[in-house]
Amino acid sequence: APSRPVYRIGFSQCTNGDAWRLAMLAGMQKELSFYPQVSFRMKDARDNSALQQQHIQEFLKEGIDLLIVSANEAGPVTPIVEEVYNRGIPVVILDRRTTSQLYTAYVGGNNREVGQTAGNYASSLLHQNGNVLEILGTAGSSPAVDRHLGFVQALAAYPNLHLAATVQTDWERPSVLRQLPAVLRAHPEVDLIFAHNDRMALGAYQVCHQLGLSQRVRVMGVDGLPGALGGLQLVQDKILAATLLYSPGGDEAIRTAMKILLKQPFSKENTLGTMVIDSTNVLTTKMQTEKLASQQQDIERQQRLLQAQTALYTSQRMALYVMALA
Ligand code: FRU
Repeated sequence: APSRPVYRIGFSQCTNGDAWRLAMLAGMQKELSFYPQVSFRMKDARDNSALQQQHIQEFLKEGIDLLIVSANEAGPVTPIVEEVYNRGIPVVILDRRTTSQLYTAYVGGNNREVGQTAGNYASSLLHQNGNVLEILGTAGSSPAVDRHLGFVQALAAYPNLHLAATVQTDWERPSVLRQLPAVLRAHPEVDLIFAHNDRMALGAYQVCHQLGLSQRVRVMGVDGLPGALGGLQLVQDKILAATLLYSPGGDEAIRTAMKILLKQPFSKENTLGTMVIDSTNVLTTKMQTEKLASQQQDIERQQRLLQAQTALYTSQRMALYVMALA
C-alpha cells in the first residue's frame, strides 16, 4: 500500500564478479522479497577502492536510509563509511570490514578463527611437521589480514611446522597461476598450501599439477560453496584436502538491516560460524546444502502460488464491487 514507509538500502559491494558474491546477492534478494516496502540498490566497485568511495558518495547524494558495505580495502574505504555513520545513517558492514568502530552492525565470519582453524587442520594433516605456503587475498582487505594473523598464530604452537613462503594476490585465480610457479620452484620443501579462498586453491592445485607436485602437496581453501566449481565439489573430487566454510551471509545482512530500520533489537556483532570440510564430512554437507536449496525452491513456489491467489482474489472482489454498483 502507498501509505507504507519506503526504506532505501544502498549496498556498496567490493566486487560482484564471483560465485561467492553472487550467492551473497541471491541471499539478499531472497530475504528482500519479504519486504516490498524496501528499495534496494547495489553498486559494484569491481575491486577498486577509489570507485567504491565514489559509489558511497553517490549513495549519500541520492539519499539512503541504510548502507550495507563490503569494503574492498579497509584503509581507503574507512573515511567515507565513517562519514555516512556520522550523518546518522546506519551502516551494516558485511564480510569485509573497515578499520573503524563507527558502524551499526557487522555481519560475517570471524576471519581470525578461519585462519586459526586452517592452521590447526594443516598441522594435523602434516603430523605437526613440515612446510606450508600461504596464498593471501588482497593486501589490506580485512579477511586477508585476519586469516593471515589467525593462521600464523595457530602455526606458532607447532615448533616443527614452518611458514616457508607467502604469496600476495588479489583474491583471484589468475594471479596465483602467474606467481605460484616461481615460488614453488624456489621452495621445493613445501608440503601444504593454504589459499585464502577456493578459487585460488584451485589455481594452486593446477600449478602443482603442472609441476608434477599434486600427489605430494596438499591444498586447502576457504568458502565451501556448493555448485560446479565450488569448494564442496573440489573437496569431493580430492582436488582440495579441505575447505573452511565461510558463509556469504546476504540473508543475515538484510535481516539485520531490517531490524535496524524497523527499530527492533539487534546485535552489533553477528558472527557466522566456520567449520572444516574434508573427505570425512563433505558428502553429508553436500546433501544438507542440496536439501536446503530444494526447500528454498519449495518456499519460492509457494510464494508464487500465494501471489497468484491474491491477484485472483483482488480481481474477483473488484468484479463484485463493480456488480454491486451497477
Ligand atoms: C569473494 C571473496 C571470497 C572470500 C571473500 C573475502 O569475493 O573473494 O572468496 O572468502 O571474498 O572477502
